[in-house]
Amino acid sequence: MKNIKVTIAGAGSGYTPGMVLSLLKNEYFKVSEIRLYDIDKDRNDDMEVIIKFIVEKGGYCTDIIKTENPETAFSGIDFVFSQIRAGGMKMREKDEKIPLKYGLVGQETCGLGGFSYGMRSMKGFSELVDLIQKYAPEAWILNYTNPETIVAETVRRKYPNARIVNACDMTIGIEELACRSFGYDRNNWIVNYYGLNHFGWYKSIYDVSLQRDVMPEIIEKITMNGFDTDGMDKSWALTYENMRKITKNFPTNLPNNYLEYYLYPNLIVEESDISYTRANMIMDSRLKKIKDTVKLIKNNPNLNSIDYQDDLHGQYIIDIADSILNNKNRRFMLIVPNKGAIPNLREDATVEVPCYVNAKGVEPIRLGYDIPDFHKGLMEAQVASEKLLVDAFFENSYQKALEAFTLNQTVPNSDVAKKVLDEMIVENKDYWVELR
Ligand code: G6P
Ligand code: MN
Repeated sequence: MKNIKVTIAGAGSGYTPGMVLSLLKNEYFKVSEIRLYDIDKDRNDDMEVIIKFIVEKGGYCTDIIKTENPETAFSGIDFVFSQIRAGGMKMREKDEKIPLKYGLVGQETCGLGGFSYGMRSMKGFSELVDLIQKYAPEAWILNYTNPETIVAETVRRKYPNARIVNACDMTIGIEELACRSFGYDRNNWIVNYYGLNHFGWYKSIYDVSLQRDVMPEIIEKITMNGFDTDGMDKSWALTYENMRKITKNFPTNLPNNYLEYYLYPNLIVEESDISYTRANMIMDSRLKKIKDTVKLIKNNPNLNSIDYQDDLHGQYIIDIADSILNNKNRRFMLIVPNKGAIPNLREDATVEVPCYVNAKGVEPIRLGYDIPDFHKGLMEAQVASEKLLVDAFFENSYQKALEAFTLNQTVPNSDVAKKVLDEMIVENKDYWVELR
């Protein structure tokens, strides 16, 4: 059997220990080498300490290579798992706070914060793909880099032949929580879902053991009792609580939780605290935990364990890699060119639908039915605004960026769109392409 080598790009991320533990622990996707690659040396150094501790204490015989050099990172590699965050948490904080200052939704991937991050990611991720094409043109890129629709659309335009799979863990996150809350087993489910990334709806959830579509009863349970959010951090618990409002008002389909930003921007702004947003929470928790763990390891030579576990986020991307490598033809929710998958939506949209994954790559399903006007209308505006942003990036066009910002459904008028855009241009000067 071939020795599989995986590079984690953006290895300094707080998600890396969970991803590596999922890699080390799983039975079927065995890797001989994991390379940690990040452009931020300090964070990569920290992660190296943590990952080497995990490998050593667990008695794993996987080689760990830490590098900031792209040639060392990618030469001879089979898979790249990308979770880069262009600009880091400091810029996420700005994405969240600038729109809030103008009374608009301030969020990492949705609304104008998502567009600001999108402009950074298009540049940062393109540079990453350039390097991978140069040093490992045969490698598969499994991409978690946000905002996923914008990133996927960019890669499709710039590298139409790249071997890339764009994935998001949100749908399995919702499904796991529904199972945990209401007593189902996701292994028995065949789900039907359509949308854009962080912007979609379930059509049905067929439970094979119960032999029925359980989506209607799940919607009812959410509306009546809410999810079981025990142990969840406050902001995620609130997000899932907000889903109740969506299912109550729109009970026909189980929604993606991110629709709260487009359906109830007023409520979201009310619930936000401009002096302490999600980015602040993560700096004070996930990022602090890395620093604390490194200190703990360095100061305690006899330490035996640290507080990191394998997780769903890591396992999902490994399952996709395994399905490619071992031609398993398993079904995943992925972000792909529409090309008729959703028949009544424009062909050139970048959509999220169930797909089968095998040694040749991704094969999206065709839904075989038209989606309702309410969802279609919301999606069409979103597709157009995201496409305008991608145009702005490729054409260095201020005009297109302003159109994208104006069309975004969290924005009430073009005056405020322009104010936010102008401020974001200044704040992102090291990260965005120039807009003229
Ligand atoms: C989900 C989404 C990701 C997003 C993450 C944010 O997993 O699918 O796309 O990045 O949530 O979580 P955080 O804890 O960083 O706010
Ligand atoms: Mn996501």
